[in-house]
Amino acid sequence: MALIGAYKNVPCKLPADIAEELATTAKKLVENGKGILAADESTQTIKKRFDNIKIENTIEHRAAYRDLLFGAKGIGKFISGAILFEETLFQKNEAGTPLVNLLHNEGIIPGIKVDKGLVTIPRTDDEKSTQGLDGLAERCKEYYKAGARFAKWRAVCVIDPAKGKPTDLSIMETAWGLARYATICQQNKLVPIVEPEILADGDHTIEVCAAVTEKVLACVFKALNDHGVLLEGALLKPNMVTAGYECSTKPSTHDVGFFTVRTLKRTVPPALPGVVFLSGGQSEEEASINLNSINLLGPHPWALTFSYGRALQASVLNAWGGKKENVQKAREVLLKRAEANSLATFGKYKGGAGGTDAGASLFEKKKKKKKKTYVMMIF
Ligand code: 13P
Repeated sequence: MALIGAYKNVPCKLPADIAEELATTAKKLVENGKGILAADESTQTIKKRFDNIKIENTIEHRAAYRDLLFGAKGIGKFISGAILFEETLFQKNEAGTPLVNLLHNEGIIPGIKVDKGLVTIPRTDDEKSTQGLDGLAERCKEYYKAGARFAKWRAVCVIDPAKGKPTDLSIMETAWGLARYATICQQNKLVPIVEPEILADGDHTIEVCAAVTEKVLACVFKALNDHGVLLEGALLKPNMVTAGYECSTKPSTHDVGFFTVRTLKRTVPPALPGVVFLSGGQSEEEASINLNSINLLGPHPWALTFSYGRALQASVLNAWGGKKENVQKAREVLLKRAEANSLATFGKYKGGAGGTDAGASLFEKKKKKKKKTYVMMIF
């Protein structure tokens, strides 16, 4: 009943049964020290990962790799949901088993990346807008039928104080796009994961990242409210607050915990059941240690857990190397990493899972665009 009460000022309310379903799914995704495996790399992005281990980016290799991840026995103890790329949602493994069935066997909820990637906002210095709203409602219906119960949409802001970035325009675009996506998903029974990623490119300090993250999150939650998004049926996927990768002073994990929690407390309503962090190029070990520091500062009003891509998969990919005989070994690596992150959600991770491999930075520098010359025109 509380849900409906909170929702009564919106002219066209979500039906009560949908609101209840969304709230139940959102809660399940962040319960019991579990987190999300972001395995939703687009065909283009997975190519980069496969290039690193010298595997050809074929549909068969992609299916084999996702089969490796989802077929790891016991992974459901640490992972509540898995975000898939569209191809994977409808894909089968070599034995003919739909990959979503492997997730169901582990009690893992399938989710789906619904954005269609980034484009430059015209007349900005390469700031980005996320595509994918056209036809989204119809796609959501298909995804729900195929078993998906939650969705992800990634918007991106960059920090460059000297150039005034992120501009208000970029922040507004991020917030508005995420809110539009979230309402469409909720209308179609998918829990929206709202991901405003502030990239770690640059030499800014942690204080600058905190200020920008605070501003962006405040705008995002204002937009979610304006659009009537049911917070109880949504999750936030933010960056942790860190210094830029080129900053000369590296903050301690305690600082990352402090600034991240302070930023969330200032901006995220407690009605939201959980925050699932992206790893954003941190090493596997850093992502686990920092999540631990964040949770050591609890209790918090929301579950604070993980939705890692690179920080759950980098060592797994290396251990696999595209070879069938390595599948079991790679699954063990995945289980270790997932367990480390689960412990971190309780503030109980002591470090050391995965050895030196887990310490390698996973940061991918944004490619610098060639400078264009603009001709001033007066109309
Ligand atoms: P990373 O954890 O590699 O940042 O990826 C998470 C994700 O889903 C980005 O959209």
